[in-house]
Amino acid sequence: MEKAVIIGAGMTPVGEHWKLALRDLAVEAILKAMEDAGIDSVDSLYVANMISGPLVEQENLGALIADWAGLGNIPAVKIEAACASGGAAVQEGVKAVLSGLEDVVVVVGVEKMTDAWPSDTTRYLAYAADAEWELFHGASFVALNALIMRYYMKTYGYTEEDLALFAVNAHANGAKNPYAMFKKPIKVETVLKSPYVADPLKLFDASPVCDGAAALIITTPDKAKELGVPKEKWVEVAGIGRAIDTINLANREDLLDLKAARVAAQRAYKMAGVEPKDIDFFEVHDAFTVMAALSLEALGAAERGKGAQLAKEGQIAIDADYPIQTMGGLKARGHPVGATGVYQTVEAVLQLRGEAPTQVPDAEIGLTQNIGGTGSNITVNILRRV
Ligand code: COA
Repeated sequence: MEKAVIIGAGMTPVGEHWKLALRDLAVEAILKAMEDAGIDSVDSLYVANMISGPLVEQENLGALIADWAGLGNIPAVKIEAACASGGAAVQEGVKAVLSGLEDVVVVVGVEKMTDAWPSDTTRYLAYAADAEWELFHGASFVALNALIMRYYMKTYGYTEEDLALFAVNAHANGAKNPYAMFKKPIKVETVLKSPYVADPLKLFDASPVCDGAAALIITTPDKAKELGVPKEKWVEVAGIGRAIDTINLANREDLLDLKAARVAAQRAYKMAGVEPKDIDFFEVHDAFTVMAALSLEALGAAERGKGAQLAKEGQIAIDADYPIQTMGGLKARGHPVGATGVYQTVEAVLQLRGEAPTQVPDAEIGLTQNIGGTGSNITVNILRRV
């Protein structure tokens, strides 16, 4: 089967962009990606976004962003899969070019979260939970993840200190990423001394509320050749997988099994013809530290209950066996929710081209995993150096 290739990537710094609107962020990322690929037109636009309606009172993002980016009368839509919107939009772009219906597509992920009141943002984020079974009862995402964190620690005997290691690793890598929101390394004590948001989950166990946009140009190898894009720029999308699980935690068979990630990963591994041991780095969805641990287990990098053990053994650093969050992850780069999956992919592209500020030595294959809801909608994409 022919594979799609990414030939251009661009992103804005993640942060509190008081002076830029959602559209400005998206256009900046798109133009950077097009410049990177050396192209001046695309056939179609896919916008990854989670909650622009409530946050900035703007829907119809396809039309808005294609118009403001000057892309002409192309087809353009918004793809929404909660915090996994980015990973899902990358997959829709890949499917479009592999179907032969579109030759060159641009995928942009964008979210503008800091224009709303924090309490409102927390409520809008919880729209991705079960409105009747969770949101109605006041359960925010932080609260739901705190339940999982407590259960994980109790079941496997981990401490808050153990899980803090994921935040320390993310900040160490984010400190070297000019696009990251937080560029300061932290210590375990920083995490432990930070205030509880929902016991046992603390400020530094959580990803921040922020703004940002990232974009990719996707095409086929034939078209990339025709366009004259040098092969050093190509990164193959070797495998994609997506799956859902129960939307509310109460109906989940096993709170500590990210089943949607497991199923999505199996699909992506099969399509790419690789196994977990072949992956050189993992960009996992560490919206909360416990999610990094559960993700490593679901992706097959660690056995059940051993995700946090990898961090304790120092195995998740850039030069170790299972590097994760190579440019800061959600925790330090930031988590502009609908854009995150595209940021992860842009970072994987930089790693595989050998252009990352925190380079994984000899990286050939990278995996990105993007979680929507509390594990209810998950994408896994595998990228390979050409
Ligand atoms: N990690 C580290 N520092 C953080 C941070 C984070 N996640 N979030 C905010 N900060 C810092 C700010 O930079 C600020 O520092 P300063 O005083 O030096 O300027 C300080 O903490 C207070 O920031 P503020 O924006 O007032 O924080 P807040 O209390 O409103 O929000 C959280 C903190 C954790 C509640 C918020 O970031 C949050 O809700 N995160 C989770 C988002 C989420 O659920 N995403 C979806 C996941 S699926």
